Amino acid sequence: MLLAKIPRGEAEAFRKKLARRGMVRKDRRIFERDGMVLIPLRDEADVDYIASLGGGIEEGDAQERDCYRSPFEVACELLSRPEVVDRLPRKYEKVGDVLILRLPEELLPLGEEIASAYAQAMGSRVVLRESGRINGVHRSPVMEVLYGQGTETVHFENGLYYKLDTARLMFSSGNIDEKLRMASLDCRGETVVDMFAGIGYWTLPFAVHARARKVIACEINPVAFEYLRQNVALNGVEHIVQPVLGDNRDLPGEGIADRVMMGYVRTTHRFLEKAFSLVRPGGVIHYQDTFPLAVYPEQALEHLERASGGAAHRGPLLPRGEVLLAGRVAHGARRARDGLGPRRPLATARCLHQQEQRLMVVVPGGRDQLLHERSEVAAEVHLLAGELPRHR
Ligand SMILES: C[S@@+](CC[C@H](N)C(=O)[O-])C[C@H]1O[C@@H](n2cnc3c(N)ncnc32)[C@H](O)[C@@H]1O
Repeated sequence: MLLAKIPRGEAEAFRKKLARRGMVRKDRRIFERDGMVLIPLRDEADVDYIASLGGGIEEGDAQERDCYRSPFEVACELLSRPEVVDRLPRKYEKVGDVLILRLPEELLPLGEEIASAYAQAMGSRVVLRESGRINGVHRSPVMEVLYGQGTETVHFENGLYYKLDTARLMFSSGNIDEKLRMASLDCRGETVVDMFAGIGYWTLPFAVHARARKVIACEINPVAFEYLRQNVALNGVEHIVQPVLGDNRDLPGEGIADRVMMGYVRTTHRFLEKAFSLVRPGGVIHYQDTFPLAVYPEQALEHLERASGGAAHRGPLLPRGEVLLAGRVAHGARRARDGLGPRRPLATARCLHQQEQRLMVVVPGGRDQLLHERSEVAAEVHLLAGELPRHR
């Protein structure tokens, strides 16, 4: 076996560089001799590269060791193309037995070979390449099949089944903290309106785990709507969920909801007024939106003021409530994210509902990565209108 040799002081950085190129054997122990660290190498290791880093090479042996290899490492081994390892995606998304990769365009000639290695390593049946951003009102992804056949799958998460066609619909597997928080709410006796239901991403936790009395789940995209209907049946909550195909702005009724779930659709603020008209006084609105750093939180508060003001004719406008920042925030408000200091009042906003209840802006974690990718985005905001002291 070949061993790479480097002085102890330089060993860690050296080892990382070799590991990144998939050259290091994980089933053998790295060891020290006379101030030098010796690293067991895989057969296809690039000795010129090792020399260029100042490392030596010698023949030898090393003790065996039990080792865990990540699925990515297994995929690299199966692929056996060290020259592309640096450009292979380390992140991927698993939805049911479908794997979604963001493979760089220059690797497309090897697309099927790479996808086949990932499929084996991750135990997936089909591999898709996400080649464009999720966009449009229907939030449709742009996907191409790299490996396998049949893009419909059933994803199991937090005790719930989500069936969908991964080539035509998005499944957001991020935001897990917020999903778990929703699932842990006690919504017994409540009517919940899910304004952007999709395939049931929030509707199902509300119906199954939070035990809402009724969930009105509105979805505008017929493809998503069909899966929403199937998922309601798959999870045995047909008696609770009422799926509605259409634009949520056409939903009938005022003050019908104890809770309104808005989800994030990039332009969520445009639907706030409808949310305020659907929610009953004292109810809860979960509002997620994003804002440029420069105008956050002022713009968020303006939207809230405008939307709640628009609905004010339905009841007395109570004295100013507090808007608090809590939970986790990207960029600007790290203090709060890191739990430094108490919740601090950011501004005041009018509160439509009972006086002791507050408008509360919460920015939960779990989206930091996404936020960093989009420089224009400041934060994800959830508005819980009076969630704290509730009177049933
Ligand atoms: C961000 S996706 C939500 C993801 C989805 N909840 C899921 O299952 O993963 C937003 C959903 O809202 C739907 N939508 C967008 N505008 C809508 C509107 N005005 N009324 C009802 N649904 C709408 C889209 O078709 C999409 O399925």
